[in-house]
Amino acid sequence: MAIKEILKMGDPRLLEKSKPLKDLNAVDLDQLIQDMIDTMEANDGAGLAAPQIGINIQLVIFGFKKNDRYPDAEEVPFTVLINPKITPIGDQIEDGWEGCLSVPGLRGVVPRYKKISYQGIDQYGKKIERKVDGFHARVVQHECDHLFGILYPMRIKDFTKFGFHEVLFPD
Ligand code: NI
Repeated sequence: MAIKEILKMGDPRLLEKSKPLKDLNAVDLDQLIQDMIDTMEANDGAGLAAPQIGINIQLVIFGFKKNDRYPDAEEVPFTVLINPKITPIGDQIEDGWEGCLSVPGLRGVVPRYKKISYQGIDQYGKKIERKVDGFHARVVQHECDHLFGILYPMRIKDFTKFGFHEVLFPD
């Protein structure tokens, strides 16, 4: 069990583009993925991208049954996704609230494609290909953005819907 430090917005490493992982044996993937799971769970995250813990490769994890940070979100199957490609299905854009473990305490409304297909491989080299919509599509777009050095505040259009979680959503 290793909970890693999550880089925070302002760290230039979060703005770098990640490299595709060409050789699945080139890194200790089991250890890295376990560290990412431990780190994501310890912070109650819905997903985590490798560059958020300072590893500059195209690897994201996401998924949850029920998430306290997103109580209204439908279940998303736990997924390890390597070298992902996202293709929008249609041009419908949907607004939704997002947060990010690299942007602690804040929430913002971000426009995302409502429906996408995504492809990639898992840690065993098995092909992943899915068509998804709603929160699942949002999480994948958010996590894959990290691989291109994009943080969700960079996608916000309406800054009146960006603020501190405890102020926006008081209990
Ligand atoms: Ni994030």
